[in-house]
Amino acid sequence: MEFSIKQASPEKLKSGCVVVGIFEGGKLSTAAQALDKVSTQLLSDTIKRGDMTGKAATTLLLHKVSGIAAERVLLVGLGKASEINNKVSLDILRATFTALNNTPAKDAALFMTDEGAGKDATWVLKQAIFIAAEQAFRADDLKSKPSKPTTLKHITFASVDKPNATLKNIVDQSAAIARGMSLTKALGNLPGNICTPTYLAANALALDKAHKSIKTTVLEEQDMQKLGMGSFLSVTRGSEQAAKLITMEYHGADKKQKPIVLVGKGITFDSGGISLKPGAEMDEMKYDMCGAASVFGVMQAIAEMGLKLNVVGVIPTCENMPSGRATKPGDIVTSMSGQTIEILNTDAEGRLILCDALTYSAKFNPDTVIDIATLTGACVIALGHIASGLFSNEEKLAQELLSAGEQAHDRAWQLPLWEDYQPLLDSNFADMQNIGGRAGGTITAACFLARFTKNYRWAHLDIAGTAWKSGKEKGATGRPVPLLTQYLINRASK
Ligand code: BES
Ligand code: MN
Ligand code: ZN
Repeated sequence: MEFSIKQASPEKLKSGCVVVGIFEGGKLSTAAQALDKVSTQLLSDTIKRGDMTGKAATTLLLHKVSGIAAERVLLVGLGKASEINNKVSLDILRATFTALNNTPAKDAALFMTDEGAGKDATWVLKQAIFIAAEQAFRADDLKSKPSKPTTLKHITFASVDKPNATLKNIVDQSAAIARGMSLTKALGNLPGNICTPTYLAANALALDKAHKSIKTTVLEEQDMQKLGMGSFLSVTRGSEQAAKLITMEYHGADKKQKPIVLVGKGITFDSGGISLKPGAEMDEMKYDMCGAASVFGVMQAIAEMGLKLNVVGVIPTCENMPSGRATKPGDIVTSMSGQTIEILNTDAEGRLILCDALTYSAKFNPDTVIDIATLTGACVIALGHIASGLFSNEEKLAQELLSAGEQAHDRAWQLPLWEDYQPLLDSNFADMQNIGGRAGGTITAACFLARFTKNYRWAHLDIAGTAWKSGKEKGATGRPVPLLTQYLINRASK
């Protein structure tokens, strides 16, 4: 899918379909007025006859309209201008692309950024690109007969007024973010028997090959042993697959500039280990590497953008499986930090691989470290599937991430990291235990990680509820790639 932006006259622009907005009550947008004029009032007539009311997210397709260069005209209801909000705007854009994808048009010109379709042109562009990419995404290439790709290949964001120069940049950036999300979704959806730690490592090497600005290194289990990563290695003990510690270093700024480190949980399948999970929906634990997948998506997006920033992606990846060699409840291990951990539940494994990856991250002398993890089922209970859970040891960082989430419409919600929760992790036999009980499970998981991130500015995103959808719509969402990329764009422009 390609996206471009230009100033044009709606009636003269050659394309498979020209898209214009109609307000509720029948008022024509500026672009619709131009089409109405050359078509001897076809649009006004259609509205008068009641075929298009302008109700938000309704559409009407017109064919071969005389006087208009485009093969088709799509009228899109914008609702009442006074009632537009983010949700209505997304409904309008989704309906627009659904209608376009029901036509054989290969390209379309959208006059939607001038007025009415959303809060401002930037918002409309970004969300339109995400939605177009979302509808073009296919997850069925492992079927013997995969579905056909969409015919729509090129979207022009056209406007009657000359577009602001920064909007061209927004289009290119959003397209890169959308491609990053597609990579994240594709990796997330892959089954555990294909997407192993070795597979993820090969993908990281492929990103290195595709982008001069990315340098990938992969550590093996012996290397981790030497580094003293007893916590991480305790998780992989029951698995036949080799664990990997992947780092992808992106250099977009002066070598001396401290990097932002992104640490992604990469459990390619979480059975729970000896603390085995119940059977229902256990297949969804193939998504337990979605934090890692989001780091891949972000690295690719910023490399394509050539963002002027240094960013390191760190991915601890392994399986969590039961076996005669597997770690048992009660086992005590020593983390790379030297702190000892009593593993009371082998299903609380994410924090065990992350703590060593977080300790390792200090070697990059980071400006900021952000980990991204499908960490706790409790987070799904607390925030549902709308917001990711956010924790930080610095309030300014928390605010920057929250507002990046708002900007990109990939939102997070902050939870407390108060010291008062820490005693829940006390153990009689080790420096800490790996679970804090049912109450506040998302918070105690974050508190566990906080014990390993004292030496730098840090934030934690719990994406257990937002990384994938269950049920009929089962599939990875590509979140929080928009949030993270927006945060990095904001950081680069400072
Ligand atoms: N990967 C899971 C968290 C998870 C569960 C995400 C369900 C999304 C849906 C994590 O490794 C886990 O099993 N966490 C346990 C922690 C508990 C044992 C303290 C959980 O949430 O039940
Ligand atoms: Mn688990
Ligand atoms: Zn897990």
